[in-house]
Amino acid sequence: MTQSNLFHPYNPELELACMALFDANCPQFFARNERDDYLGFLKSQPVGYHVCLLNDEVVGAFGLLKHNQEYAINWIMLSPKTQGSGVGKQVMEHVIVTAVDQGIDRISIAASHLSAPFFAKFGAVAVNEIEHGWGQDMHRIDMVLNIKL
Ligand SMILES: CC(C)(COP(=O)(O)OP(=O)(O)OC[C@H]1O[C@@H](n2cnc3c(N)ncnc32)[C@H](O)[C@@H]1OP(=O)(O)O)[C@@H](O)C(=O)NCCC(=O)NCCS
Repeated sequence: MTQSNLFHPYNPELELACMALFDANCPQFFARNERDDYLGFLKSQPVGYHVCLLNDEVVGAFGLLKHNQEYAINWIMLSPKTQGSGVGKQVMEHVIVTAVDQGIDRISIAASHLSAPFFAKFGAVAVNEIEHGWGQDMHRIDMVLNIKL
């Protein structure tokens, strides 16, 4: 499947499917207290947020969003059954190509201690760490991905 078929811009009809993705990844990868933050994020109708569709099923979501002149990867998550099948890699390749196309030279990522090794595979480096930063036992790792333009 090509990337253009895989990724689809977020719209409010996708809210339930995205919340189901969150719930399937909580509490293993997201702290329970993050649920309201994610719902609020979706309700803000974020420009740049996308879902990943496989056979018309929402299997993931992610965003490359601009905030205060900075770009960041936001709320990236795949359904547990999709994790480990290469979709995350396709997301990162898509994000990097988009950044190059748009002349974005730096992307921030607010990762966890569990996801940071994944982002590191694509060149992201940790710049700050906060123990229990996302909630009890969910440590926050702030990372930066520099893009070669
Ligand atoms: C993190 C996530 C997006 C990665 O997507 P994925 O589809 O599982 O990753 P892929 O199958 O494309 O893996 C690509 C590579 O990264 C590695 N990888 C994937 N997740 C990893 C992790 N958590 N830690 C270390 N390496 C990881 C894979 O082994 C693979 O390595 P290889 O190319 O050497 O074989 C996905 O696992 C996920 O949704 N996790 C739960 C939610 C989450 O933690 N989101 C991040 C919030 S900041």
